[in-house]
Amino acid sequence: MNAVFPGSFDPITSGHMDVLTRAAKIFDQVTVTVMHNARKQGRHLFTLEERMDILREATAHFPNVRVDTFGGLLVDYMARQETGSVIVRGLRAVSDYEYELQIAHLNRQIGDAETVFIMAATRWSFVSSSMVREIASHGGDVSEMVPRASASALRRKHADVYAERETEKQNPALLGR
Ligand code: PNS
Repeated sequence: MNAVFPGSFDPITSGHMDVLTRAAKIFDQVTVTVMHNARKQGRHLFTLEERMDILREATAHFPNVRVDTFGGLLVDYMARQETGSVIVRGLRAVSDYEYELQIAHLNRQIGDAETVFIMAATRWSFVSSSMVREIASHGGDVSEMVPRASASALRRKHADVYAERETEKQNPALLGR
């Protein structure tokens, strides 16, 4: 049985990687699909191409994982997959469940798509792409929270902030100015 792991992945986190690792053990093939919405494009830190590149690098070691992208409804994408394919979504905490349950029901209602939830390890319960972006935008250390490909991309994206913070760390009197 095959699975699709959809998301924004802006960028992929260690929590996503944990869910993906578990999914890759359960399913024959897992497709990580960056869902893109042209109207939301300006609100992402990374472009679609950058997110795809990060994902390809971060998932290269999985023999049964591939990376794809789609710009429409998830149910239309699912209709193009092999019969019986399911959507995989990760749950970090109970707070994720309400939102995810609504989407899962909607996807079943509008496209008969089945969703399987995989619980991320508790150590990732506080990690989200948005928090990682926030920390990195101030030059903070996110290396534990994201795969190496995401950490490098974040450092490149905020190269000036990281350089400035490094200087400040060597001269604490400048911190936070
Ligand atoms: O990583 P995210 O942002 O939580 O992922 C949400 C995503 C992209 C999976 C969801 O917004 C989605 O499926 N978008 C595609 C459009 C769609 O099918 N919408 C209907 C279900 S809400």
